Amino acid sequence: MTLSNQSKISRISISISYISNVTLYVAGIAETLLIGGNFPMLKKILGTILCAAMCVAALAGCAGSGKKKVGISMPTKDLQRWNQDGDYMKQKFEAAGYEVDLQYAGNKADTQLSQVENMINSGCKVLVIAAIESSSLGTALDKAAAKKIPVIAYDRLLMDNANVSYYATFDNYKVGTIQGNFVKEKLDLDNAAGPFNIEFTAGDPGDNNAGFFFNGAMDVLKPYIDSGKLVVVSGEKTFEKVATAEWSTANAQSRAENIINANYADKQIDAWLCSNDSTAQGVVNALDSRYNMKDKWPVVTGQDCDIVSVKNMLAGKQTMSVFKDTRTLAERTVTMVNSILKNEKVETNNTYNNNKKEVPSYLCEPVFADINNYKQILIDSGYYKEDQLK
Ligand code: BGC
Repeated sequence: MTLSNQSKISRISISISYISNVTLYVAGIAETLLIGGNFPMLKKILGTILCAAMCVAALAGCAGSGKKKVGISMPTKDLQRWNQDGDYMKQKFEAAGYEVDLQYAGNKADTQLSQVENMINSGCKVLVIAAIESSSLGTALDKAAAKKIPVIAYDRLLMDNANVSYYATFDNYKVGTIQGNFVKEKLDLDNAAGPFNIEFTAGDPGDNNAGFFFNGAMDVLKPYIDSGKLVVVSGEKTFEKVATAEWSTANAQSRAENIINANYADKQIDAWLCSNDSTAQGVVNALDSRYNMKDKWPVVTGQDCDIVSVKNMLAGKQTMSVFKDTRTLAERTVTMVNSILKNEKVETNNTYNNNKKEVPSYLCEPVFADINNYKQILIDSGYYKEDQLK
């Protein structure tokens, strides 16, 4: 739609809004005046006019706001981070003058598909999507393309479809290398004699990020596994073996309990590489309930700096968490949308191949937080208040 068409529509809707508001006002006064009297037919007619005027006013209000609507589709409310991502984006988009349709899909790919299709049908001018399953939204992406609606893949790349305009994320491979390097340094793998025992817990196979995290960590640690300095006692070292459906804490916990029961009755665990906080929390629960050598608590990694995990960090049960400031990603996304809709150049610093297209991408930088720097990273930056972590 051209801009002049849009402004015509907006002018027409302002006039409709004006007329309907005046009708509303007059009909309202008339009805009030008639309340005491006995004019049933007249009251009925006025009631109908009042009702119709209210509907027209409401419709005109929406159409006439002149605001462009952004559809934001988030995977689940179960994890703290997606609530924050959604909230920040809503705030920032609204502050930039947009209307926002924010939806959570309860980790159900088919729910997400119908939510995104509704966003397309209800007039969203741009879509921001963090996919539950990276390849499951193809039909919606095709519909968006047919209506020339740009799509931004948020945090997780949308795979196997060419209709993805941009990708805003953190450097996911780097998240994994940060975790791997943290373990390497904590165990001093280049100098200590070892061998050290390690286990791995990765993310959901449907999430394109999960492989990046795991491969990043494995690329750092594999040489030590190959040389025998690190031993995966369970023998489970492929992504398929260590993946966690839905990134669920309960799934991670039950697998960790089985591993501990079967392999570590009288063995020390030196490190447990977990790709994120929801899985790290499951592993920590399993260690709490099943691990016999509590004085030799392993190095446990994570990602997101969820409040529960930061509290575990302060209690010495999780050793680090990669911090991806969701405020930064939300801001980056708003900047991208502004540029797209103003037809300006969109700033990117990378490209990611989604099997159909090199998707222009902006990668933000992750860092890690641990017991030594969490105040600076999480409190001084205003991300959390100290008493949220008590
Ligand atoms: C995100 C992580 C998050 C995980 C589980 C990943 O795609 O990048 O930050 O912990 O999904 O929701």
